[in-house]
Amino acid sequence: MNNRVYVFDTTLRDGEQVPGCQLNTQEKIMLARELEALGVDVIEAGFPISSPEDFRSVQEISKVVKEAIVCGLSRAVEKDIKAAADALQYAKRKRIHTGLGASDFHIQHKFRSNREEMLERAVRAVKYAKSLVEDVEFFAEDAGRADPVYLAKMVELVIAAGATVINVPDTTGYCLPHEYGQKIKYLVENVKGIDRVTISVHCHNDLGLATANSLYGLINGARQVECTINGIGERAGNTSLEEIVMILKTHAYLGLETNIKTQQLCPVSKLVSRLMRMPVQPNKAIVGANAFAHSSGIHQDGVLKHRENYEIINPTDVGAEGSKIVLTARSGRAALNFRLEKLGFKLTREELDIAYEQFLIIADQCKNVDDDQLCQLMEKMKLKAEV
Ligand code: KIV
Ligand code: ZN
Repeated sequence: MNNRVYVFDTTLRDGEQVPGCQLNTQEKIMLARELEALGVDVIEAGFPISSPEDFRSVQEISKVVKEAIVCGLSRAVEKDIKAAADALQYAKRKRIHTGLGASDFHIQHKFRSNREEMLERAVRAVKYAKSLVEDVEFFAEDAGRADPVYLAKMVELVIAAGATVINVPDTTGYCLPHEYGQKIKYLVENVKGIDRVTISVHCHNDLGLATANSLYGLINGARQVECTINGIGERAGNTSLEEIVMILKTHAYLGLETNIKTQQLCPVSKLVSRLMRMPVQPNKAIVGANAFAHSSGIHQDGVLKHRENYEIINPTDVGAEGSKIVLTARSGRAALNFRLEKLGFKLTREELDIAYEQFLIIADQCKNVDDDQLCQLMEKMKLKAEV
């Protein structure tokens, strides 16, 4: 089996659905260019039927993207599919992403339909999309809660109708990793024609398992992962692009590789956060402000002796500023000395003992001790920096 994992970025579609995160066309174009430079394989640029501005965004992104596939979302409805094809008209490589509900829950309570009718609609939609573009991705919405046998039947029929990629979304973030992996494995083992298509994982984070579920899907045979920068997306979000990419890179023995230029991860994360006015939580893996910050004495001492004592990723590999030694009341002498040396102060052991006692008093009062406060402390002790 091919070990290349295709990265399908949906920051501009699933990510942009987050209230308050809407982008205008210019902002979307700027982000699409950065996503392409990052090395994503597919950019889901929007949902063209949803609004004239979204149609225009997909159209304009199609004009500027050179290498990546540009994808437009549609429901399994003719006018949606036509709008997606029209918006993608100028794309060098284009894909229509269409689909409908696959779980009994969605079939009964959302579509108010039945299993047979949904199969017919799915096939009709894929055939129509295929008459407009070559590359058609089918999504079986809420596949995470769908009956695997019915799901397999739906997938087999849409492959026969011409689908090139099969998206198996855990729309509600319900599955456990081993269950989701099993779901993918079942499709690999039971669907006729599955070897002709790429299986895609699309996981939501309602139980905090989106990245883990995507990983299990990939281990079990999927070769495309749908994800967003900073994990933004509906409700608790989607699989985070930076997490899944760095998992595969860190655990190279899995033999699964992406094309992502990982040094761009932090800069792109900052851009998305700024444009979408969506702060990144400080403890967010890979791109959070504290992802490479060490504040307790034991960790600081360890990381100063050897960075890998407490870091499994080199910050420069993801474009982060570097390891940070943050001075708090939990910091030790080694960290204080390290920061003082960076400021040019060389202290004897006795001087350091006195400085450390004073430092703890300051740290207890103001949480983080910064360089200005350290310089003031040195001045009080009448110590001068070496230039
Ligand atoms: O979560 C989901 O099921 C989706 C589909 C539209 C692909 O975002
Ligand atoms: Zn989604």
